[in-house]
This record gives sequence, structure tokens and C-alpha cells, in this order.
Amino acid sequence: MRYLVALYVLSVAALGVLAQEKKPPLKLVFEAKNGNVTFDHAAHVKREKNNCKVCHDKLFPQEKAPLNFKAGMHKPAEANHTSCGACHAATPASQEAGGHAFETKGNCTKCHVKAAA
Ligand code: HEC
Ligand code: HEC
Ligand code: HEC
Repeated sequence: MRYLVALYVLSVAALGVLAQEKKPPLKLVFEAKNGNVTFDHAAHVKREKNNCKVCHDKLFPQEKAPLNFKAGMHKPAEANHTSCGACHAATPASQEAGGHAFETKGNCTKCHVKAAA
């Protein structure tokens, strides 16, 4: 009986951990007519020192959802520091989060990669 109780407690604890921490993906591919974009989730996580909160859920939900980045050739997202434009922007975001990365202007092919014909 004591063994069964211990087993029950253990499995509830394990489920609790699973519910909190969804396993992060390594790479995510976003389709685009001008070349698909591969988002290296692992590299981005490492650069943010494993701090999921930099992006979740402030910028993105932890699930497949529309990015809301493509409108107006990325300019509105960059100007408002939303979606990828929170970091990939001409001017750094004013908030603490995330750091600064290359802007979209002049850097289309750093993200958009055309498949070899
Ligand atoms: C630099 C930003 C960033 C950081 C930091 C980050 N993520 Fe993400 N994550 C994303 C983006 C972007 C997506 C895709 C969201 C979408 O499709 O709308 C995503 C998606 C996910 C998904 C869903 C994947 C799927 O295919 O459904 C999980 C789970 C996830 N992240 C977990 C984590 C965990 C755990 C951490 C911390 C260790 C983390 N993320 C840190 C940007 C980030
Ligand atoms: C929290 C800040 C942050 C967010 C949000 C973010 N990035 Fe990045 N990203 C960076 C940094 C920092 C670098 C590396 C510095 C540089 O190259 O300017 C980088 C580099 C990249 C690279 C080059 C390959 C690599 O990973 O080193 C690609 C492609 C990229 N990001 C795409 C995206 C896409 C697509 C999104 C939105 C889904 C996104 N990023 C959101 C910070 C961010
Ligand atoms: C930081 C990475 C990044 C850079 C740099 C970037 N893009 Fe994108 N782009 C994306 C992502 C991610 C998507 C998909 C976004 C979405 O679904 O909201 C996208 C979507 C698009 C789309 C929509 C395509 C479709 O099939 O609907 C167009 C057009 C586009 N980008 C043009 C450009 C141009 C032009 C440049 C250079 C001036 C550029 N992008 C630079 C990441 C980037």
C-alpha cells in the first residue's frame, strides 16, 4: 500500500512538470513564396541564455500560430517591435528584452532561402 501511494505521488509530480514545460523545438520552418524561413529555435534560445520569457508568451505563444510578421513587408512589426521585429529591427526595442539583431532591410536572404531549382 505504501508503495502504491508513493507511485501515485511520483506520477502526479511528473505530470505537473510535463504540463509546465513544453519541450522546445530545435528548428521551425515558416513558408513564404519568396523563400521559406528557417527559425533556429535552439540558437535563439541559447543566445537568450535559456530565458523562454524573452519570447513566450509576450511575443509568441508556445504553439504553432500565425506570426503576424509579414504584413507591410515587415515594416509595421519592426516599427512596433512585435513578432520577429522585436529584435530584428533598424532600431533596438526600448524594453529590456531580447537584444538587437539584423533588420529586414537589405537582409532578405538572411531569412528567406530559396530552394535550389
Ligand atoms: C527568441 C525567441 C524565442 C525564445 C527565447 C524561445 N522561443 Fe519557443 N518559439 C519561438 C517562436 C517564434 C515559435 C513559433 C511560434 C509560432 O509558430 O507562432 C516558438 C514555438 C515554441 C513551441 C511550439 C513548437 C511547435 O511546433 O508547436 C514550444 C513548445 C516552445 N517554443 C518552447 C520554448 C521553450 C521551452 C523556451 C525556453 C527554453 C523557448 N521556447 C524560448 C521563439 C522563441
Ligand atoms: C529576442 C530577440 C529575437 C527575436 C524575437 C528573433 N530573433 Fe532572430 N536573431 C536574434 C539574434 C540576437 C540573432 C543573432 C545576431 C544577428 O545575427 O544579428 C538572430 C539571428 C537570426 C537568424 C540568423 C541565423 C541564426 O539563428 O543565427 C535568423 C534567420 C533569424 N534570427 C530569424 C528570426 C525569425 C524568423 C524570427 C521570428 C520568428 C526571429 N529571428 C526572432 C534575435 C532574435
Ligand atoms: C528576420 C527574418 C526575416 C527577414 C530579414 C525578412 N523576412 Fe520576410 N518573412 C519572414 C518570416 C518569418 C515570414 C513569414 C511571416 C508570417 O507568416 O507572418 C516572412 C514573410 C514574407 C513575405 C510573405 C510571403 C508569403 O508567402 O506570403 C514576404 C513578401 C516577405 N517576407 C518579404 C521580405 C523581404 C522583401 C525582405 C527583405 C527586405 C524580408 N522579407 C526579410 C522573415 C524575414
